[in-house]
Order: sequence, then structure tokens, then C-alpha cells
Amino acid sequence: MITLIIDDVEVKVPKGTTILDAALQNDIYIPHLCSHPDLPPVEQLKPADFIYRGNECLENKKPDLQYEGCELCVVEIDEMEGLHLSCNTKVSKGMAVRTMSPEIENSRRDRLMFIFERHPHACLTCAQKEGCARFPCSTNIPELERCCSKFGRCEFQKVAEYVGLKPETPRYIYKDLPHIKKDPLFDRDYNVCIGCSRCIRVCREVRGVEALDFIFDEEERVVIGNVSLTLRESACRFCTACVEVCPTGALMDKEPFEEVPCQNACPVGIDVPRYVRLIAEGRFDESYAVVRERLPLPSVCSYICLSFCENECRRGEVNDPVGIRALKRFVSENHSDLWKKNLKPPVPTGKKVAIVGSGPAGLTAAYHLARKGHELTIFEQAPLPGGMLRQAISRKRLPKKALEEDIEEILRTGVNLLLNSPKIQIDELFEEGFDAVFLATGSTYMGPPTFDLSSSREGVFAGGDAVVGGISEDFIHQVRGENGNGFFYKLINQLSLHRGDSSRSAVKAIASGRKAAEDIDKYLGGDGNVDESLLPSDEIKQWLGREENFADIKRLSPSFKPPIPQYAGLSKVESPLTREEAMNEAKRCLRCELRLLFEKPILPPKKKLWIEFSPENVAAVPEVEGLFQLLDENEKVIYIKGTMNLHKEIEEQLETNENARYFMYEQDEMFTKKESELLQQYIAEHGEMPEGNRELDDLF
Ligand code: SF4
Ligand code: SF4
Ligand code: SF4
Ligand code: FES
Repeated sequence: MITLIIDDVEVKVPKGTTILDAALQNDIYIPHLCSHPDLPPVEQLKPADFIYRGNECLENKKPDLQYEGCELCVVEIDEMEGLHLSCNTKVSKGMAVRTMSPEIENSRRDRLMFIFERHPHACLTCAQKEGCARFPCSTNIPELERCCSKFGRCEFQKVAEYVGLKPETPRYIYKDLPHIKKDPLFDRDYNVCIGCSRCIRVCREVRGVEALDFIFDEEERVVIGNVSLTLRESACRFCTACVEVCPTGALMDKEPFEEVPCQNACPVGIDVPRYVRLIAEGRFDESYAVVRERLPLPSVCSYICLSFCENECRRGEVNDPVGIRALKRFVSENHSDLWKKNLKPPVPTGKKVAIVGSGPAGLTAAYHLARKGHELTIFEQAPLPGGMLRQAISRKRLPKKALEEDIEEILRTGVNLLLNSPKIQIDELFEEGFDAVFLATGSTYMGPPTFDLSSSREGVFAGGDAVVGGISEDFIHQVRGENGNGFFYKLINQLSLHRGDSSRSAVKAIASGRKAAEDIDKYLGGDGNVDESLLPSDEIKQWLGREENFADIKRLSPSFKPPIPQYAGLSKVESPLTREEAMNEAKRCLRCELRLLFEKPILPPKKKLWIEFSPENVAAVPEVEGLFQLLDENEKVIYIKGTMNLHKEIEEQLETNENARYFMYEQDEMFTKKESELLQQYIAEHGEMPEGNRELDDLF
């Protein structure tokens, strides 16, 4: 460990840490823009010879120049001349660092001014900005000169507010640079780009794609663009890492990105990105284990799932969604028993659960509850298990083999299956020693099962199509009773079975069975967590690598076999993917999950705007033109004043103003204008002048 001093505080950090990281790790904020927690520091970034932006090819105007960074992170180091970049200077033993001084502040503000000459900033300097709705603009600044739509959530804005803008920062003139909206997933507005190079570095050094680059213009400003005419031709993989790290509104998602959409859309929450990645890596057994973590009917789903995940897949915005269901089918048919290696033997709970119906909801609940150590019995009125999976879905869509494989695996958990058991008396089940009953009777496809119920009671649950299929609302009411503890899971599309959409209902029924298992386990004294970890976590690499024409690689639709003779005239049968096809299809995934791994940059602390109104603090106020505000003990503004001499005027107030407890001041040559703006803002907010200003008005 290295011990050093930062702003008079002794800190200890590992050898090799930069001064910036050492400070941030110890809650000492140093402003920074080009630095990002997931990016290596900028070190003499060489420009390209040319880049493409919009329809233009732009040539580098400064071949001998290199980008050295935003230079906002400068600090002073004892016994070293000048200012130093804290983001690429490593700590050393006994080093003494100062993060704030008039020179440092001036240098940072100069750098900001350079950036703001080319970045809209009217909203940042506007006296009305606090609480302003922005539309319409109260000072009539043209929209394109104000700020971008990220105002209020912009990292650059927060850093700029912390550093402070110089009053002489020139007005921004809109340059009408390209605002590219034609690409999928994100838009690029180069009018608000500050040339920090984060996007280039993340694309190059973290993703290994190199779709972006930069040149210098005549004014030595960084100009960002693609390496080829379009983003697609530049081999962009649409991973949106560049959007994630951009500190401004220059790169913006078309739709907010908060979670991985395929996983979120899956009714049982399978970790889709993980199993797709494992297929791309040729690790099929591992991929199957990931599917099994949340789904006890993988073969069934690989045939009949309606692919809610594919509907949301972001690759669909680029060209076609990833063939996720076909991939699940591939691993369902090409796997070993590796997934069983990490199955923990269930600890018997001594509790007994009866499940009425062996359709998708019943089978799913049975599997999860058996894995939680409960003793399970399924009562099925039909001679064969499967419910709607067997009765309502054609064998052409769901082969018998797939269904039977999944059922067999569920029965291996020790579930007891009683076939040809149509008449169920719920009270009798409890008398026989069952602690809970799950009604998963499915639809009326085979005619409703019969129930006898003498009284309302706890411990009865219902799910799947049972809720509106086999069981009437009256029955539900009876079971639930006034204060009953039974739970009923209504499915959004449960009626669809009766309209012929069995597979939609089946997948939702599986999700319902899982939910029922969670609640029944809780009811029986468990933790209600039916998740299983069947594959230890592995290291996830952020590196994707460059692949020409990645965005245009077409989806590998499964090839088709000629129809089986007895189904001639009906739709064709899907052929499975080959090993190579499966890997290639999985490689089309944009790896959306990687974006969630980025750390959020550390933002400036909220500045305390006012200080105690004490003789010591007032003594430090310079004798310059500016504006000050006094606040009472409740931190309410009681006086606003612009003056030629801040020190003199505030000192007078210290002697005469009995109510002031805090104050704030700022240097400003245009103090009269600023005073009237702040007073107007105050009146707009409070409907009257501040107390101290009112007294003065009365005097005159
Ligand atoms: S590959 Fe990713 S980081 Fe690079 S430009 Fe495309 S979306 Fe941005
Ligand atoms: S697009 Fe964003 S990340 Fe890239 S240089 Fe501009 S401001 Fe920085
Ligand atoms: S591209 Fe991959 S991670 Fe992204 S939504 Fe599609 S399957 Fe999921
Ligand atoms: S943060 Fe150090 S140069 Fe930008």
C-alpha cells in the first residue's frame, strides 16, 4: 500500500493507483470528464487520417497533435512544477497533492470555456434555471442554443456546474452539425459532443470493435465519427457501450435501456443472454444448465414457446431477432447430464402437497415443490399426463418424445403420479394428510373435474387455466372464503385456450405453476425461493472483437423438412439447427447484458451553496464586484444585493443585520443585471420580495 496526503488528509491506496482514483476512493472529488471507471486513462490518443460523419469524409488537420484528455482533473503536487493530470499520474509514497487552488480552478474553467464555445449552455448560465420548465424559455433563447434533452440528468452538466463557468464564456452559436437518427437503437447528435473520446475508447479498448475514431479540426478540437461511411459499414455491433459511457446527450438511446429485454420478457425469467452466450462459445451442456435453472419443461418450451423474448430482442431493431427458441431446442436436444452435477439433494420437509392436474402448471409446480423437499402427489383424471400439452397441441407441433422426456425428468424428483383419478374431494385430501392442495386442472378441454367442498379452507391454491377453465368463480369464492388463505393466479390470456391458442396458454401456465410453487412453499414454512443455481458463475468478458458486416448477418431460420405424410397439407415441420448453425445464430446476439456491467461514474458532490455568516468567513470575501445573498436561520433567502465591493457591503451587513445566519456570494461584473434576475426569480417563486429587500423598498 502507498501512503500519501491529499488535501491534508492521509490516505492509503494500492500501488499503481492513479491520484484521481485515490482521491475518489477516499471521498475527495476531483472533476473529470474523459476519465471513466471502466476505461483506461487517455494517453496520447492519436487521431485517424480521416473519419466519416453524416455524409462527409473529414480529414485530420493536425497530424502531429495527440489528444491528451479533457484536462479537468488537474492537481498540484508538492515539489513538482505546474499542474498535473490526476487521472494518469500514479501515486507515490509521501506524495502531497492539492486538488483545489486558484490556479487549479482557473485552469479547469479555461478548459470548460474551450468546450462551451462549441456546446449549447444557455440553460447552465441562465438565472432562471432553478425550477425552470425550459419550455417555453423565459428569456427567449433559441432552443438549439439552450442545452440538450438530457438537461437535468447530464453528467457533463453536473461537472460543469461544480467547476463553474467563467463569466466571459462566449455565447454558443449553433453549428448545425449532423444529428443522425437513421441508425437502430441510438441517435447521435454531434452538436452536443464535447470530444471526450470515451466512446472511441470503449469501442476500441473495451469492445475491440473500432467502429469509431476522431480527427482534429483547424481549431485543434476533437471531431468524432465512424471509420467508414456508415456505422454498419464500420462494423458496429450495436452493443451501445458508447451510449452508456457518453457524458452528454450526444449519444442517446432511442428507447430507455434499463434491463436486458429478452430476459425480462421471458415469463419464467430464464437468463437468456447467458445461455445464448454459452452456445456461441460452444458450451452446450452449460447452456442447457442455465435453461434448467428456471424451466422444468425445456423440451416442451423449445417447441411451443411463443418466443416472447424474440419479440423484444434488440437485434430485431438491427435486422432480425436472435432465434432464441431454436437455440433452446438445440441445447435441449444436445446436452449431457452436467446440469445435474450441481443439483442439491432436497431436504425433506415432511409436508405433503396434492396437485390436481398434470398440465404445464401442475407439472411445473410439482417439480419445484419436490425440489424444495415436499412430498408431491399429482392426481390426473386422464389416462396419460400432460393435460393440454397432450390434448390440445398437435403432435406435429410438440412431438410426444419431447413431452415425455420432460415429464420423466419431473417424475425422477420423486413426484407420485396417479392417473385416471377424476373425482377429487378436497376435504378428503386434507383428511388424508395433505398440507396444501394446488388446483391446476386446466381448461374444460376434457370436461371439468369434479370437486366436493363442504367448507372454505386454508391451503388451497389454484393456477393455470384452472381459474376460469375447470373451476367456476363460485367455486373460487367458496374456497377462498371470507378470510381464507388460498391464492388464485389468474392468467392474462387464460381464455385463449378456448380460442385455440394453446401454446400461449401453456407458457403462461408454466409461469403460473412456478409462482404457485413459490407461494405454496412459503405457506408450508419455506422461503418461497424456487430458483436453483446449476452453473457456477463464470467470468464475463467485455471484449466482442471486430467482425465486418456484423449488423447485416441474417438470422439462420431453421431449415424445413418435407411434411410427414399423415400431415400433408398442414404446415411444415421445423428442422433443428446444426451445431455450427446454432453457434453462428448465437453469435448474432448483441450482448445487451454487458452494458449493465459498467460502473456509474462518480458525480460531483452537491455543492453547499451557502456558508455561515461569521466574521472569519466574511473576512475571506474579496473586494470585487458581485452579488450576495443572506439567509436566515431556516436557510430562507432574506436579502439579495449586487454591489461594487462584495467585502465592504457584506461586512456592513454583518454589523447591522440581526437575522442573517448564512450567506453566499459570487463574483460578477454584471451584478446589477444579476441582482434584478434573482429578485425576479424570487418574486416568481414566493410572490413577494425577500424580507430585507422589502424593507429597503419601504424606505424609498
Ligand atoms: S460497437 Fe458498440 S461501442 Fe462501438 S460504436 Fe457500435 S454501439 Fe458503440
Ligand atoms: S459522443 Fe459522447 S462520448 Fe463520444 S466524444 Fe462526444 S461526448 Fe464524448
Ligand atoms: S440481442 Fe441478445 S441479449 Fe439482446 S435482447 Fe436479443 S438475445 Fe437478448
Ligand atoms: S479526466 Fe484527466 S484528462 Fe480528462
